[in-house]
Amino acid sequence: MKREISVHDHRFELYLSEQQIQARVAEMGRQISLDYAGKRPVFLAILNGAFMFAADLVRSCDLDCELAFIKISSYRGLASTGKIETVLGLNVPVENRDLIIVEDIIDSGNTMRALLPDLQKLGPASVALAALLLKPECLQYPINIEYLGFQIPDRFVVGYGLDYDGLGRNLPSIYQLRQS
Ligand code: IMP
Ligand code: MG
Repeated sequence: MKREISVHDHRFELYLSEQQIQARVAEMGRQISLDYAGKRPVFLAILNGAFMFAADLVRSCDLDCELAFIKISSYRGLASTGKIETVLGLNVPVENRDLIIVEDIIDSGNTMRALLPDLQKLGPASVALAALLLKPECLQYPINIEYLGFQIPDRFVVGYGLDYDGLGRNLPSIYQLRQS
């Protein structure tokens, strides 16, 4: 595992190792399995960033469950645009289902603030949020996160699904932008 990498024109340093991430995701999966015992939740993973987290999280869950994806994007480069685009809509019925939204990172909270009311309108039995990362300093709205992996400082990160302008998603560890 490299301690430092370059992505496009920026240097990043190792922040959360693959082992740290895997251990935490396994704990989250165990907790979800206990909380949803006897139920059949639908994991709703937000593409593209959450694809890797979702894959590991569902494998850590000892439950009958379903997995669906929606695609939303609010980021260009290193900063949030604040505008949410739903690119690929939901194509599974969620009425009366227990939903667990799976998100890579909560930054401003814009994405969740836009998505949660729309999901509620579809009449799910319950909605919970599982986020791998939270940047508490950036949060602009109160957002309930039932399952949180790590709180991180306000520094851009790549890896484990998260990208910087398309690159870095395949890295098994998470790297933080180096302060210059
Ligand atoms: P929010 O809507 O501002 O909460 O931003 C959420 C989305 O922005 C996440 O789903 C990510 O796709 C993206 N994002 C936020 N912070 C980072 C980061 O540090 N690296 C890569 N993507 C990020
Ligand atoms: Mg995302």
